[in-house]
Amino acid sequence: MLEVRVCIGTSCHLNGSYNVVQGIQQLLEEHAMHDKVDLEAIFCMKQCECNGVSISVDGENFRIEPEKVSEFFEEKIMSKVL
Ligand code: FES
Repeated sequence: MLEVRVCIGTSCHLNGSYNVVQGIQQLLEEHAMHDKVDLEAIFCMKQCECNGVSISVDGENFRIEPEKVSEFFEEKIMSKVL
């Protein structure tokens, strides 16, 4: 099971973490990948100083823009599950 964590701390919330969580959930449904990815919202990942929303995939940290969720999903999530 691939572990995906999206930060919903104050800074990331203001940068659109809600949209990132929604976007990933929708993509997981579209690709029937719910049983392969464990998606959870977590609090501050201590990377607030950068733009975007903090997200980790199996312990590797990234910052993403909410409008780039699909791109990120394909590159960093789908590619690891398929
Ligand atoms: S609030 Fe997300 S890294 Fe701090």
